[in-house]
Amino acid sequence: MKIYKFEKVSSTQKVARKLIHETKSDKFIVIAKEQTEGYGRHKRKWHSPNGGLYASIVLKPYTKKLNIIPLAAALAVRKAINEICKIDVKVKWPNDIVINSKKLGGIICEAILAGEKLEYLIVGIGINVNIEHRQFPSQLKKQATSILIVTGRKFKIESILNEIIKNLDAYKKLIENNLEEKILNEWRKHDIILGRKVKVSNREKIVGYAVDIKDDGALILRRNDGKIVELYAEDIKIEM
Ligand code: BTN
Repeated sequence: MKIYKFEKVSSTQKVARKLIHETKSDKFIVIAKEQTEGYGRHKRKWHSPNGGLYASIVLKPYTKKLNIIPLAAALAVRKAINEICKIDVKVKWPNDIVINSKKLGGIICEAILAGEKLEYLIVGIGINVNIEHRQFPSQLKKQATSILIVTGRKFKIESILNEIIKNLDAYKKLIENNLEEKILNEWRKHDIILGRKVKVSNREKIVGYAVDIKDDGALILRRNDGKIVELYAEDIKIEM
Protein backbone atom coordinates (compact mmCIF):
# COMPACT_ATOMS: atom_id res chain seq x y z
CA MET A 1 0.00 0.00 0.00
CA LYS A 2 1.43 3.39 -0.97
CA ILE A 3 2.02 5.74 1.96
CA TYR A 4 2.34 9.48 1.39
CA LYS A 5 4.27 10.98 4.28
CA PHE A 6 4.25 14.63 5.25
CA GLU A 7 5.80 16.70 8.02
CA LYS A 8 2.90 19.13 8.38
CA VAL A 9 -0.41 19.36 6.51
CA SER A 10 -3.72 21.13 7.00
CA SER A 11 -5.52 17.80 7.44
CA THR A 12 -4.59 14.36 6.12
CA GLN A 13 -8.30 13.96 5.18
CA LYS A 14 -8.07 17.00 2.92
CA VAL A 15 -4.79 15.85 1.38
CA ALA A 16 -6.27 12.37 0.79
CA ARG A 17 -9.28 13.91 -0.96
CA LYS A 18 -7.00 15.93 -3.23
CA LEU A 19 -4.86 12.88 -4.03
CA ILE A 20 -7.96 10.84 -4.88
CA HIS A 21 -8.90 13.42 -7.49
CA GLU A 22 -5.37 13.58 -8.84
CA THR A 23 -4.52 9.88 -8.89
CA LYS A 24 -7.95 8.15 -8.97
CA SER A 25 -6.32 5.52 -6.78
CA ASP A 26 -8.42 3.82 -4.11
CA LYS A 27 -5.63 2.24 -2.10
CA PHE A 28 -3.28 4.58 -0.30
CA ILE A 29 -2.56 6.21 3.03
CA VAL A 30 -1.67 9.77 3.94
CA ILE A 31 0.19 10.40 7.19
CA ALA A 32 1.55 13.56 8.74
CA LYS A 33 3.54 14.41 11.85
CA GLU A 34 1.43 17.46 12.50
CA GLN A 35 -1.85 18.98 11.29
CA THR A 36 -2.91 22.59 11.40
CA GLU A 37 -6.60 22.00 10.58
CA GLY A 38 -7.19 18.46 11.79
CA TYR A 39 -10.88 17.80 12.33
CA GLY A 40 -13.11 15.16 13.85
CA ARG A 41 -16.76 14.24 13.67
CA HIS A 42 -19.34 17.02 13.81
CA LYS A 43 -16.66 19.37 12.41
CA ARG A 44 -14.86 19.50 15.74
CA LYS A 45 -11.24 20.56 15.74
CA TRP A 46 -8.80 17.69 16.26
CA HIS A 47 -5.84 18.95 18.25
CA SER A 48 -2.86 17.65 16.24
CA PRO A 49 0.56 18.60 17.63
CA ASN A 50 3.75 16.72 16.84
CA GLY A 51 3.74 13.34 18.62
CA GLY A 52 0.32 12.09 17.52
CA LEU A 53 -0.64 9.59 14.85
CA TYR A 54 -2.57 11.27 12.05
CA ALA A 55 -3.51 9.01 9.18
CA SER A 56 -6.09 8.85 6.42
CA ILE A 57 -6.61 5.48 4.81
CA VAL A 58 -8.26 5.53 1.39
CA LEU A 59 -10.16 2.45 0.38
CA LYS A 60 -12.92 1.18 -1.85
CA PRO A 61 -16.15 0.56 0.07
CA TYR A 62 -16.07 -3.23 0.31
CA THR A 63 -19.44 -3.79 1.95
CA LYS A 64 -22.94 -2.37 1.73
CA LYS A 65 -23.03 -2.20 5.55
CA LEU A 66 -20.91 0.92 5.59
CA ASN A 67 -21.30 1.51 9.32
CA ILE A 68 -19.26 -1.60 10.00
CA ILE A 69 -16.12 -0.04 8.50
CA PRO A 70 -15.55 2.64 11.18
CA LEU A 71 -16.24 0.01 13.85
CA ALA A 72 -13.65 -2.28 12.26
CA ALA A 73 -11.20 0.64 12.10
CA ALA A 74 -11.70 1.45 15.79
CA LEU A 75 -11.18 -2.21 16.70
CA ALA A 76 -8.06 -2.33 14.51
CA VAL A 77 -6.70 0.66 16.44
CA ARG A 78 -7.66 -0.82 19.80
CA LYS A 79 -5.95 -4.10 19.04
CA ALA A 80 -2.80 -2.43 17.72
CA ILE A 81 -2.41 -0.26 20.82
CA ASN A 82 -3.13 -3.20 23.13
CA GLU A 83 -0.54 -5.34 21.43
CA ILE A 84 2.23 -2.79 21.03
CA CYS A 85 1.78 -0.63 24.12
CA LYS A 86 0.37 -3.35 26.40
CA ILE A 87 -2.47 -1.23 27.74
CA ASP A 88 -6.12 -2.16 27.99
CA VAL A 89 -7.72 0.21 25.53
CA LYS A 90 -11.48 0.18 25.00
CA VAL A 91 -13.86 1.47 22.35
CA LYS A 92 -16.91 3.65 22.73
CA TRP A 93 -19.64 3.49 20.12
CA PRO A 94 -19.48 4.68 17.39
CA ASN A 95 -15.82 5.47 16.98
CA ASP A 96 -13.89 6.57 20.00
CA ILE A 97 -10.81 4.91 21.41
CA VAL A 98 -10.76 5.30 25.19
CA ILE A 99 -8.83 4.34 28.29
CA ASN A 100 -9.77 5.10 31.90
CA SER A 101 -12.86 6.96 30.56
CA LYS A 102 -10.63 9.41 28.69
CA LYS A 103 -10.34 9.79 24.95
CA LEU A 104 -7.15 8.46 23.40
CA GLY A 105 -8.16 8.57 19.77
CA GLY A 106 -10.97 8.77 17.27
CA ILE A 107 -12.05 7.70 13.83
CA ILE A 108 -13.83 9.69 11.16
CA CYS A 109 -15.10 8.00 8.04
CA GLU A 110 -15.87 10.16 5.02
CA ALA A 111 -17.41 9.07 1.74
CA ILE A 112 -16.44 10.42 -1.66
CA LEU A 113 -19.05 10.14 -4.37
CA ALA A 114 -18.58 10.11 -8.11
CA GLY A 115 -21.97 11.32 -9.34
CA GLU A 116 -24.40 9.27 -7.31
CA LYS A 117 -22.03 6.40 -6.76
CA LEU A 118 -20.04 5.91 -3.60
CA GLU A 119 -16.50 5.46 -4.91
CA TYR A 120 -14.10 5.95 -2.03
CA LEU A 121 -13.96 5.99 1.72
CA ILE A 122 -11.42 8.00 3.67
CA VAL A 123 -10.94 6.52 7.11
CA GLY A 124 -9.26 9.15 9.27
CA ILE A 125 -7.48 7.96 12.39
CA GLY A 126 -6.15 10.24 15.11
CA ILE A 127 -4.34 8.81 18.14
CA ASN A 128 -2.67 10.73 20.95
CA VAL A 129 0.55 8.75 21.08
CA ASN A 130 3.59 10.68 22.36
CA ILE A 131 1.71 13.73 23.62
CA GLU A 132 2.39 15.25 27.03
CA HIS A 133 -0.40 16.42 29.29
CA ARG A 134 0.78 20.04 29.01
CA GLN A 135 0.42 19.88 25.20
CA PHE A 136 -3.39 19.57 25.45
CA PRO A 137 -5.31 22.84 25.52
CA SER A 138 -7.02 23.43 28.88
CA GLN A 139 -10.50 22.51 27.62
CA LEU A 140 -9.20 19.05 26.60
CA LYS A 141 -7.05 18.32 29.64
CA LYS A 142 -9.88 16.64 31.57
CA GLN A 143 -11.26 14.46 28.81
CA ALA A 144 -8.20 13.58 26.71
CA THR A 145 -5.22 11.38 27.37
CA SER A 146 -2.31 9.89 25.46
CA ILE A 147 -0.33 6.67 25.35
CA LEU A 148 2.63 8.57 26.82
CA ILE A 149 0.55 9.82 29.75
CA VAL A 150 -0.82 6.33 30.46
CA THR A 151 2.39 4.33 30.05
CA GLY A 152 5.13 6.89 30.70
CA ARG A 153 6.76 5.67 27.48
CA LYS A 154 7.17 6.88 23.93
CA PHE A 155 6.27 4.60 21.04
CA LYS A 156 7.16 4.50 17.34
CA ILE A 157 4.19 5.87 15.45
CA GLU A 158 4.98 3.82 12.35
CA SER A 159 4.93 0.53 14.28
CA ILE A 160 1.45 1.36 15.57
CA LEU A 161 0.30 2.35 12.09
CA ASN A 162 1.66 -0.86 10.53
CA GLU A 163 -0.18 -2.93 13.09
CA ILE A 164 -3.41 -1.00 12.44
CA ILE A 165 -3.10 -1.63 8.69
CA LYS A 166 -2.52 -5.33 9.30
CA ASN A 167 -5.52 -5.57 11.64
CA LEU A 168 -7.78 -3.59 9.33
CA ASP A 169 -6.91 -5.92 6.49
CA ALA A 170 -7.83 -8.93 8.61
CA TYR A 171 -11.24 -7.34 9.43
CA LYS A 172 -11.78 -6.57 5.75
CA LYS A 173 -11.28 -10.27 4.95
CA LEU A 174 -13.85 -11.20 7.61
CA ILE A 175 -16.37 -8.76 6.13
CA GLU A 176 -15.74 -10.04 2.60
CA ASN A 177 -16.43 -13.55 3.85
CA ASN A 178 -19.70 -12.49 5.50
CA LEU A 179 -18.25 -12.96 8.96
CA GLU A 180 -19.23 -9.51 10.28
CA GLU A 181 -20.67 -11.22 13.33
CA LYS A 182 -17.10 -11.88 14.53
CA ILE A 183 -16.38 -8.16 14.38
CA LEU A 184 -19.60 -7.31 16.19
CA ASN A 185 -18.82 -9.85 18.89
CA GLU A 186 -15.42 -8.32 19.37
CA TRP A 187 -17.06 -4.91 19.59
CA ARG A 188 -19.46 -6.18 22.25
CA LYS A 189 -16.49 -7.34 24.31
CA HIS A 190 -14.71 -4.00 24.28
CA ASP A 191 -17.37 -1.28 24.14
CA ILE A 192 -17.69 0.70 27.38
CA ILE A 193 -21.28 1.84 26.86
CA LEU A 194 -23.09 -1.45 26.24
CA GLY A 195 -25.14 -2.45 29.25
CA ARG A 196 -25.05 1.04 30.69
CA LYS A 197 -27.30 4.02 31.02
CA VAL A 198 -26.38 6.64 28.46
CA LYS A 199 -27.35 10.09 27.33
CA VAL A 200 -27.40 10.80 23.63
CA SER A 201 -26.82 14.33 22.53
CA ASN A 202 -28.70 14.57 19.29
CA ARG A 203 -31.64 16.83 18.55
CA GLU A 204 -33.84 15.04 21.07
CA LYS A 205 -31.46 14.35 23.99
CA ILE A 206 -32.44 10.76 24.63
CA VAL A 207 -31.65 9.05 27.90
CA GLY A 208 -31.74 5.28 27.91
CA TYR A 209 -30.02 1.98 28.26
CA ALA A 210 -27.50 0.81 25.64
CA VAL A 211 -28.77 -2.69 24.85
CA ASP A 212 -26.63 -3.93 21.97
CA ILE A 213 -25.29 -3.12 18.53
CA LYS A 214 -27.19 -4.31 15.47
CA ASP A 215 -25.68 -6.29 12.62
CA ASP A 216 -25.36 -3.12 10.53
CA GLY A 217 -23.48 -1.25 13.28
CA ALA A 218 -26.42 0.73 14.72
CA LEU A 219 -26.70 1.18 18.49
CA ILE A 220 -29.86 -0.28 20.00
CA LEU A 221 -31.11 1.87 22.85
CA ARG A 222 -34.02 1.30 25.22
CA ARG A 223 -35.34 4.70 26.11
CA ASN A 224 -36.55 5.47 29.59
CA ASP A 225 -40.14 5.23 28.32
CA GLY A 226 -39.45 1.66 27.17
CA LYS A 227 -39.34 2.40 23.45
CA ILE A 228 -36.49 0.76 21.50
CA VAL A 229 -34.62 3.04 19.10
CA GLU A 230 -31.76 2.47 16.69
CA LEU A 231 -29.07 5.11 16.41
CA TYR A 232 -26.42 5.80 13.84
CA ALA A 233 -23.30 7.84 14.70
CA GLU A 234 -24.53 9.99 17.55
CA ASP A 235 -22.60 11.42 20.48
CA ILE A 236 -22.97 9.38 23.61
CA LYS A 237 -22.31 10.29 27.21
CA ILE A 238 -22.35 7.75 30.00
CA GLU A 239 -24.78 8.49 32.81
CA MET A 240 -23.20 8.11 36.21
C1 BTN B 1 -13.23 12.09 16.15
O1 BTN B 1 -13.03 11.55 17.24
O2 BTN B 1 -14.14 12.92 16.01
C2 BTN B 1 -12.39 11.68 14.97
C3 BTN B 1 -11.04 12.31 14.94
C4 BTN B 1 -10.26 11.98 13.68
C5 BTN B 1 -8.97 12.75 13.58
C6 BTN B 1 -8.12 12.25 12.44
S1 BTN B 1 -6.45 12.80 12.54
C7 BTN B 1 -6.13 12.21 10.95
C8 BTN B 1 -7.34 12.58 10.11
N1 BTN B 1 -7.20 13.94 9.60
C9 BTN B 1 -8.12 14.75 10.14
O3 BTN B 1 -8.23 15.98 9.91
N2 BTN B 1 -8.93 14.07 10.96
C10 BTN B 1 -8.56 12.67 11.04
